[in-house]
Order: sequence, then C-alpha cells, then structure tokens
Amino acid sequence: MDRYVVFGNPVSHSLSPEIHARFARATGEVLDYQRLLVPVGEFASHAQRFFSAGGHGANVTLPFKVDAFAFAQAASERARLAGAANVLLARGGEVEADNTDGAGLVADLTRNLGLDLRGKRVLLVGAGGAARGVIAPLLALAPAELAIANRTADRAAGLVKHFRELGTLRVVSLQTAPDDGFDLVVNATSSSTHAQSLELPQGLLRPAACVYDMAYGEAARPFLALAAAQGARVADGLGMLVEQAAESFLLWRGVRPATDAVLAELRARLA
Ligand code: ATR
Repeated sequence: MDRYVVFGNPVSHSLSPEIHARFARATGEVLDYQRLLVPVGEFASHAQRFFSAGGHGANVTLPFKVDAFAFAQAASERARLAGAANVLLARGGEVEADNTDGAGLVADLTRNLGLDLRGKRVLLVGAGGAARGVIAPLLALAPAELAIANRTADRAAGLVKHFRELGTLRVVSLQTAPDDGFDLVVNATSSSTHAQSLELPQGLLRPAACVYDMAYGEAARPFLALAAAQGARVADGLGMLVEQAAESFLLWRGVRPATDAVLAELRARLA
C-alpha cells in the first residue's frame, strides 16, 4: 500500500491521519497514513529512512517545516518563497518540497468563509515560518495592502523586504493604533499554541472585520474571544488545516477531495 506520514514533534495530537483516511475513502484512493514522531534535530535521518524504504509522501508540521525544505532535493516555487515545506513527495527518485499552507488559508478564507479581499486592508501578525508561507498567496488575492506586525519588528521588516516585489507591504506596530483599521487580521504567531493571547488594540478593526487565528480549537479561543468582544467575525484555523490537507492530497494522488463534510465533522467534535 502507498505509504504517507506526518512528521512532527509533538505529533500525537495531529488530525492529519484522520483527515487523509476520510479523503481516501471519499475518493476511492488506497493509502496508508501514519503519525511519525521525530526527535528535534533528527529530521533528515528520519525522513531519509522513510523515503529510502519506499515512502510516497509526507506532511510536515512543527517544528520541522524549515528542515523539510532543506532536506528535499527539489522544491516548488511556493515552497521556495516560503523557505519552508509542509508537504514532501517522492518523485522520480527525488524528494520534492511543496507548501500548501498558503493555498489552504486562501481556500478557507475565500471558499469556506466567503471573503473577497480585493481592495481590502489585511494585517498579518507574526513573522515566522507560518507568516512567511501565506504572504504570497494573500497578496495574490489583490488586497489594497498587506501590513505585517510582529513582536520583533526587525523580522517583519525582513519579510517586507523579501516580498516587496509581490505587492503593497508595510510594517506596522500592534501598539500604535493605525489611522484606518483592517478588514482582516490573521494571527500567524505561535502565541495561541503557547497558550498566550495577543493584544488587539481598540481601533485596529474596521466595521465587519474578520479575525482569523491559524491555531484551532481550544488554543485559538482566548484571542478570538477578544476579537469577538470587539464585534469581529472570527474563525480559527481548522478550515486551513483541512484545506492544506486537501491540497497535499491533490499533489500526491492527482485528485482534490471535497472538504465540506470532513470540516463539518471535525468542527462538531471540537466544539
Ligand atoms: P512559526 O514557524 O510557527 O511561525 P517561528 O518561526 O518560531 O514559528 O515564529 C513564531 C512567531 O510567533 C514569531 O512571529 C514570534 O514573534 P517574534 O518574532 O517576536 O519571536 C511570534 N510569537 C510567538 N509568541 C508570541 C507572543 N506571545 N506574542 C507575540 N508574538 C509571539
């Protein structure tokens, strides 16, 4: 049977095996998908062993997305732009890196949440790997601007410099309320997963703004509760998780599974 894994540490909480098992059933694809716990610092040797033994593909979660990109012999344009990979696939004797996180976020924002970001003002909070992976796909939605705020401002400035040819980008501070608020705020920091909530200063949100946290379930609740208290429409990252998985499945198997039923089931369980 074709073998797939999700590499991570920790990985026992990962919903990916369940999501891919459901996708496989729905599309009639036959595959085996397991979790693989990798000690920090040992990604390359474990990935090498998996692919040498005939593994077909992998998802990669924290903290190995940059290691996965470095490990692969080839990379898609979007993985190169992100400098990180959440997907690996064996192809012609090589391992290729790809990144479907941005496509997953965009699918969730546009298809599931029905947002149209053309001409809108978007704030991305965070400047780590998660933020980096979604900048190009967000700019492709033609917002009026994409602002980046980060606790360490230099890292945000580094991203603005790196991506400046792709669209209108600038650094903002979360502490200084902007002249005009944002229509969409995306939390791409790891604060929620560390059980710390971000601040959300008054004046940051425009009327009918949406606030999105890439974390999901319990972890995302405190930040989204702050946003809801300011009248925002809120969404956690469960949809992004399912959509990036569907994009991974498409790369591996050539078919994009429907996501609605899987997302609804997981949503009901996490409620
Ligand atoms: P990832 O790959 O998940 O993005 P990362 O590269 O370690 O992980 O980046 C973590 C991001 O979350 C950074 O933007 C970090 O801010 P700094 O660059 O200032 O470190 C941000 N972050 C983590 N904890 C945070 C917190 N409690 N408040 C605000 N930002 C936080």
